[in-house]
Amino acid sequence: MRKRIFLSPPWVGASERGLVGQAFDSGYVAPCGPMVDAFDRRLGELAGQHAAAVASGTAAIDLLMAELGVGPRTTVVASSLTFIATVGPAVKRGAKVVFVDSDPATGTISIPLLEQALTDVRRPAVVVAADIYGQCCDYDALEEVCARHRVPLVLDAAESVGATYKDRPSGLAGAAAVYSFNGNKIITTSGGGAVLSRDPELVARAKWRAQQAREPVAWYEHREVGYNYRMSNLLAALGCAQLDRLPEIIRRKRRIFDFYCGLFSSSVGSAPQHHSTIAPFPCAAHTRSTRWLSVFLFPSETLRDKAAARLEAANIECRPVWKPLHLQPVFAENRVYGGEVAEDLFRRGLCMPSGAGLTRADFARIAKALVG
Ligand SMILES: Cc1ncc(COP(=O)(O)O)c(C=O)c1O
Repeated sequence: MRKRIFLSPPWVGASERGLVGQAFDSGYVAPCGPMVDAFDRRLGELAGQHAAAVASGTAAIDLLMAELGVGPRTTVVASSLTFIATVGPAVKRGAKVVFVDSDPATGTISIPLLEQALTDVRRPAVVVAADIYGQCCDYDALEEVCARHRVPLVLDAAESVGATYKDRPSGLAGAAAVYSFNGNKIITTSGGGAVLSRDPELVARAKWRAQQAREPVAWYEHREVGYNYRMSNLLAALGCAQLDRLPEIIRRKRRIFDFYCGLFSSSVGSAPQHHSTIAPFPCAAHTRSTRWLSVFLFPSETLRDKAAARLEAANIECRPVWKPLHLQPVFAENRVYGGEVAEDLFRRGLCMPSGAGLTRADFARIAKALVG
């Protein structure tokens, strides 16, 4: 059997090895160190706001839920079409979660349905809106509706690192945002994430909470109980090297998307609602996607499954679009506003192999498996 082509493996090389080695040689192998400060600074530059690197995107969301008072007897309103970590920390804190469907034109949270949810739910603690597959939600519309309902907005920008919304970097909206640098994300620290906010005090509190809520005195003094969530110096070194590589990764990811468009060209239609063609996952004009994953919608679930089976038979990894959270057994009792759009995207959508390191031979194998 030929080597497996993975969905979105890390793309790393000599520069990552070099910087991690430098961190190692500097003696800062223990958790914190200068690379963490450098990574915080560089993430802040990329995102246009303050940043704190932490152990995972999930940890970053948890820190924000703590900061925004999410707990028992609170309600969180969230995107349904996303990974479970968007709402996991809120659930673990005892909050009730209400889900909102996607907009058919953007693939991200529906603003009219969010408006409906915010009108019904009395004083939700927070709205968590998830960017998806390299593209941003409609930040302006989200900010407007959340401001009107006086609800803080958190952007789960785990999947949109490096993308833009109009002329803004991904995650630059609302009260705060998170990034993820998990192994399959557009850049990786093997595992990691970040808290981002325009509010320097919120980020300072997140750092404090991520470091056991230790008071700044010589001995260990605690007025609250915190977490051990900060990123380590060695992983931050990997992150700094990956940030250098990010523009090239994005160029490659966009070329990969073009490759699939070409491959499906006889059947790719511009309108995702047009069910007789293979169409790209919806993407609004307000966002420039990184194409972290190239995602296409097939005319039917059967045709999608056939394509997935052909890829798998050639030892090539692919994956259905996120199963909407409102369909997850664990959330069977949760309220959802709408739901049909996300369900359709789940049934017909397929994430294609999108690794920045794909070779010509890999492209040829994928093409042969799909259309050969
Ligand atoms: C939308 C979304 N939110 C949160 C996460 C969680 O990030 P992490 O795996 O770094 O905890 C991920 C990915 O893993 C994600 O795709």
